[in-house]
Formats: sequence, C-alpha cells, structure tokens
Amino acid sequence: MLYNNRKIILEKYGEPWTAASLKSESISPPTKGEILVKTSFVPINPADINILEGRYGTLPALPATIGTEGSGEVIATGPDVAEIREGDQVLYLSRTDCWQDYVSCTAKQVIKIPKNLPGKFACMLKINPATAWLLLHQGNSILPEGWIIQNAANSGVGHAVIAIARKLGVRTVNFVRRKELIKPLLGAGGNIVVMDNDEGKNAAIEQIGDAPVELALNAVGGESALRIMSMLSEGGTHVTYGAMGKRPLKVPNSMLIFKNLKLKGMWLTKWLKSADPREIKEVYDLLSELLLSGQMLQPIDSVYSPENISLAIKRATENSRSGKVLLDFRLNVSQ
Ligand SMILES: NC(=O)c1ccc[n+]([C@@H]2O[C@H](COP(=O)([O-])OP(=O)(O)OC[C@H]3O[C@@H](n4cnc5c(N)ncnc54)[C@H](OP(=O)(O)O)[C@@H]3O)[C@@H](O)[C@H]2O)c1
Repeated sequence: MLYNNRKIILEKYGEPWTAASLKSESISPPTKGEILVKTSFVPINPADINILEGRYGTLPALPATIGTEGSGEVIATGPDVAEIREGDQVLYLSRTDCWQDYVSCTAKQVIKIPKNLPGKFACMLKINPATAWLLLHQGNSILPEGWIIQNAANSGVGHAVIAIARKLGVRTVNFVRRKELIKPLLGAGGNIVVMDNDEGKNAAIEQIGDAPVELALNAVGGESALRIMSMLSEGGTHVTYGAMGKRPLKVPNSMLIFKNLKLKGMWLTKWLKSADPREIKEVYDLLSELLLSGQMLQPIDSVYSPENISLAIKRATENSRSGKVLLDFRLNVSQ
C-alpha cells in the first residue's frame, strides 16, 4: 500500500509566504525498525519563518521538506519496533520535516505523549514549553522569594514560563507591548503584567520593592532587552533566547562592571541533541501534564489546511496575533 503524502517544501529562501509550497508524493509503508506517523497538527513558529527566510542557526539543504515541530498518530510499525505501538500519539522530537502528512521515522525520533492530549495542543509541546522549562532550570537558580522578568510575555514561550514558574513557586514580571494583553495574562497566572515601556518598568519596580530579581528572559532585543536587564539585582542572569524585535543587544559597560550581571544565550536544539533521553522524557511528561490539566495555556490564533499554506504563513508573520497559527493535516481542500 502506498500513502499519498502532502508536504510543504522550501526550494529557495525568500519571502516566507512565497518560499513555501505544497507538493504531493507517494510513500511506502515502514520497513524494519521504522514507524509511520500520520501528522495531525503542526504550528508555525518564528523559527520556521526564519528558516524560510534563510536566517536561522541551522539551514537545510534545498529543496527540503520543512517544519520544526508537530504531532500525530502512529498508524503502522515495521518489524523490530518494540517501544511504540499503532494508535500511540507522538511528538516529532528530532525531525525538521514535520510539515507533511506522513513521517517515516525511528522510535527514537519521536516521544510518546498522552493519547487524551488534544492534537491542537500536543503539536506545540516540543519547542515552546520545553524552552520555558530550560530557561527556568538550566543553571539559573532562583530564590523562593525572588522574581523573574520576561518580555514578549504573551508568546508561546512566555505563557509556558508563567505556568512553570507558578509550579516552582516563583513570581513573574511580564512585559507586553499591547494593553489588551494585561488582563488575560494576569488571568493566566502572571503576577505582574505591565506595558514594555519605562512607565511599565516603574510600576513593576514599585510592586516588587526590595525583593531579589535574579533572572531576566529576553526574546525581543534592543531597548526591551535592556529594560529587563536594568531591573536585575546584582549578580543576576540575563538570558537571550529570541530576537523578535530584530534589534541588537548593546549592553552598557556599567551593567557588567558595577552589577556583575551574567549574560547568556540558550538554544533548545542543543539540549535536545545532548540531554539524556530519560531527562527529555521526564520533562515532556511534566509538560504534557501541565497542558492537560489546563495549568499551562498555549493559545491558538487560527487553523489552516495545508493547501492554504501561504495564507497561514502570512498570518503567522503578522503582529498582534492571539496565539499560534496551526496547519491541520487532517484537512484537505475538499473539506
Ligand atoms: N532559543 C530557543 O531555543 C527558542 C525556542 C523557542 C522559541 N524561541 C524564540 O522565542 C521567541 C518567541 O517564540 P514563540 O514561538 O513563543 O513566539 P509567538 O508565540 O509566535 O509570539 C511572538 C511574540 O513576539 C512578540 N513580537 C513580535 N514581533 C515583535 C517585535 N518587533 N518587538 C517586540 N515583540 C515582538 C509578539 O508580540 P505581539 O503578540 O504583541 O505581536 C509575541 O509576544 C521567538 O524569537 C523564537 O524564535 C527560541
């Protein structure tokens, strides 16, 4: 039996919504040691946009099927596969070609997640929640009475930071660039939510008082990165993990000389490649539980069929979305 596989491919880097196109091909059943996964949903992340533009840490050889994350159901297993069964829901873990109907892979390239986790949320588990977990665990110690600060707090990572920090008993100061996000983010568990400007910063400082601020998480760069840096206590850590504002980080010397701040970067890809598989499994079990129980939110803006890939990507590049843009691989144009 052959499977009709729709896949989103990148032939030439460029404007993201024109660089991606949909192609079809036939693929064969899994062979020895392989499993075949039917993709359900995939999100469009900033990293996917950057790859389409040709501006990312690692780039595929072209033409390439793309997509940094997604989830699906195992529909067939080849001989010699013990750990995974037909009907299991899995997350693509070490694949960068998730935007297709079927992925033929090994059991080690996926991770089993609870069957009752809705596919729309499961597809967003690999990158942003795990990034938030790492930001709050990897060598960044936080005192129980301390605070952490983040910008772009309404992003997928930002929501996950709020949820995981709550679980750890750590309070968050959240900077956003739209007033209408303040109420929903307070509702999602953010302790302080303010506008990403000097007025917002002063309001946050008034509420925090003398409590230590040990960790600042930066996904924007430029002025916003410096704003959260300037709120750190002496010896605090500033981690840059994103650059949504496309502005460089120009650090005043005084931040290093007089405040002895530590400036770091973080890339989830490195951890996924080097961490012990048991640790990875434990982290995704915990994150699945947070999503399932509703303690962690990953808002969705809109859902498109793969045939509407250009519209979907266009939407994903727009400001002021209300969450992630997803592709639903259970749909086709006739539906
Ligand atoms: N280092 C890693 O391993 C790693 C892993 C995951 C994600 N990331 C990075 O983390 C960042 C967030 O990713 P995500 O998927 O969580 O994002 P997302 O859910 O797509 O949300 C994007 C966020 O960026 C804000 N934003 C967009 N353009 C901006 C600008 N010019 N200035 C300031 N803010 C801007 C948006 O604010 P509005 O809603 O107001 O538009 C929103 O808060 C991205 O840079 C991504 O590449 C890095």
